[in-house]
Amino acid sequence: MPTARTLKRPELIADNPDEHLAAFARDVAAGLTAHPKCLSCCYFYDHQGSLLFEEICQLEEYYLTRAEREILLARAAEIAALFPGEIALVELGSGSATKTRILIEAFLRQRGALRYVPVDISRTMLEESTLALRDEYPELEIVAVAAEYTQGLRHLAAESARPKLVLWLGSNIGNFDRPEAARFLRQVRETMAPCDRLLVGVDLRKEAVVLERAYDDARGVTAQFNLNLLARINREMGGHFDLAMFRHRALYDEEMGRVEMYLDSLVDQQVRIDRLGLEVSFAAGEPIHTENSYKYSGEEIQALARSAGVRIERQWFDGARRFSVNLLAPE
Ligand code: AVJ
Repeated sequence: MPTARTLKRPELIADNPDEHLAAFARDVAAGLTAHPKCLSCCYFYDHQGSLLFEEICQLEEYYLTRAEREILLARAAEIAALFPGEIALVELGSGSATKTRILIEAFLRQRGALRYVPVDISRTMLEESTLALRDEYPELEIVAVAAEYTQGLRHLAAESARPKLVLWLGSNIGNFDRPEAARFLRQVRETMAPCDRLLVGVDLRKEAVVLERAYDDARGVTAQFNLNLLARINREMGGHFDLAMFRHRALYDEEMGRVEMYLDSLVDQQVRIDRLGLEVSFAAGEPIHTENSYKYSGEEIQALARSAGVRIERQWFDGARRFSVNLLAPE
């Protein structure tokens, strides 16, 4: 057994945290002075928010994680066998990388070595998860990138020394509207060599009750996750939001094929945000739109692939057909 000291610390490439805060401040000011009010879901994931999201993934109602895990467990060996030699596994939005372990183990079993490049906006989550991975899999080479997707793309392009499998799991694609999702996939495709592949987890359209329960659980974890946006504004920019004066709401818009999340103001109120020099007025019942989570039909996944210039090489579903994992090849 190697001791902790003989293990290399995973390399960490991070963006400038000051720029992060400046962008957050700009977006909060713009979103809370817009009509209707909105905040971007990319700000859910500070350390606190990332932990709450981990908790969501374990909820009975949040079927996405379990359905995707079921597919990966069934297909990991098959996926690993598709690649003849050593590869790099690059993961966009890696979070705690719990499901990724299934693939990591399959590759290590077949190859004995693997390079893993997780990209995530939560630096602390990235540090925690890569240290845990290093301890569990000493033969794994890890280069962690603390960055948003757009910067992540640059690292993708640089990752060309060997074939790569790009992972974009958990239906993270759902936060993009459909044209944006196609555009982003196309950008990923542009970093891919002909032998590279992209593995994308996509949640499927289904009955509204199932979806709304998944985004508004009985224990209120998703409510806390949503409200953490306001808590984060309080912590990081001197906001004075009273979280008890806002309520979490999830709504499935069938026509758009998306779950929308809101924070509704329960009363008429003014909220100061000291470091923005801003006072925001809310009417009773006024919503802040905080997230869209798009769901796809089989045809919509086809259309997405077509407009991104990728081919669906394999497509797998869980037993209950709630979720899909798509192996995409550059066209
Ligand atoms: C991480 C974007 C896939 O939309 O299902 C979970 C985020 N929001 N519960 C999703 C989320 C509320 C999640 N994604």
